[in-house]
Amino acid sequence: DQAIKVAVLAGDGIGPEVMTEAIRVLERVAELRNLSFEFDHQLVGGAAIDAAGCPLPDATVAACEAAGAILFGSVGGPKWEHLPPNDQPERGALLPLRKKFGLFANLRPSICLPALTHASPVRPDLIKDGFDVLCVRELTGGLYFGQPKFRKEEEGDILAVDTMVYRKSEIERIAHVGFQAAMTRDKRLTSVDKANVLENSILWRETVNEIAKQYPEVTVNHLYVDNAAMQLIRDAPNFDVLLTENLFGDILSDEMAMIAGSLGMLASASLGQTSGNGLYFGMFEPSGGSAPDLAGQGVANPIAQILSAALMLRFSFGLETEAKMIENAVAAAIADGFRTGDIMTDDASLRQVGTKEMGEAILSRISA
Ligand code: NAD
Ligand code: IPM
Ligand code: MN
Repeated sequence: DQAIKVAVLAGDGIGPEVMTEAIRVLERVAELRNLSFEFDHQLVGGAAIDAAGCPLPDATVAACEAAGAILFGSVGGPKWEHLPPNDQPERGALLPLRKKFGLFANLRPSICLPALTHASPVRPDLIKDGFDVLCVRELTGGLYFGQPKFRKEEEGDILAVDTMVYRKSEIERIAHVGFQAAMTRDKRLTSVDKANVLENSILWRETVNEIAKQYPEVTVNHLYVDNAAMQLIRDAPNFDVLLTENLFGDILSDEMAMIAGSLGMLASASLGQTSGNGLYFGMFEPSGGSAPDLAGQGVANPIAQILSAALMLRFSFGLETEAKMIENAVAAAIADGFRTGDIMTDDASLRQVGTKEMGEAILSRISA
């Protein structure tokens, strides 16, 4: 058998800590299922700046090109915030990776396990028995990448410009991803925009309605982003698929993660076009960041990273059984009362653990 090649970019802050646990989980799956992984560890972000002088070294890009998927940790932190914006980890490495590999579709499955309803800051009666909402976020357009983007001095003042650009074709392709996802789920899609103000959003809404005609079984509704932010808190279980543009998706997915219990639980898959065999080259990473407030303490929740590894098995390697093994093991560890600090609640039957113990609890619950 051929080894499964993965470029591993752990990055900064809690990145390396949670990545270690995800790799251990993958190794366990490999052992049980007779697979073999080839992990190519490469520098990225602040770690790469410190070691190699730039946030995205050529060797890192080459390793990504040679692999079937990228497993990414997180980048950034106070240490590199003084650098020019384009030399910082986020704009110098993370965004270029997304753009370079055409990863326009960002899937963020926000799942509130029944046992975690009390970890949510939202009242348990509003969370009901937990929920499963998929945020489909456009990832390579909008304000993040639109040109011009600059800052200049003008008439004794300072002017900063970011440009929001979407092409109809970009909206069409992400809408298809949203509708196709809805077809495998509860067939309800909520498109989020600001069509009462933005030209971009008017085009977005029109285009989503056009694409909707190809998916007559899916019920579509539209919400303005301010209302969406509110409705999510009021009634998260009422959502199925949320489809939105880059910046709105960035914001709403953190909100979704917290409603589900913690940002430390939210995995993500960033996908490009399928290679035709139903598999995708992709980058898989926690939705949260390097958490400088927790880094180095061994207390971060590794679940978002571990679930991202499961998404990688599913989307890039077609290993559905193996992905489910990991997801079931995470649910089992939670059901058995293991909690990192971020999801700990006041309940004597729960056991607060660190990153390593949580990784251990999960990998010991993986069964073939
Ligand atoms: P953050 O996501 O790092 O942290 C926000 C909050 O969530 C913090 O309180 C943190 O402790 C908590 N948190 C995040 N992940 C957690 C986990 N696994 N377990 C427990 N708690 C967790 O956001 P921030 O503080 O705004 O940003 C810190 C740095 O990370 C910045 O440089 C930012 O640009 C970067 N960032 C990187 C990525 C990425 O690489 N994909 C994503 C988001 C932010
Ligand atoms: C995320 C992060 C990134 C984003 C930052 C670090 C550039 O917040 O993946 O959600 O805004 O996309
Ligand atoms: Mn974000």
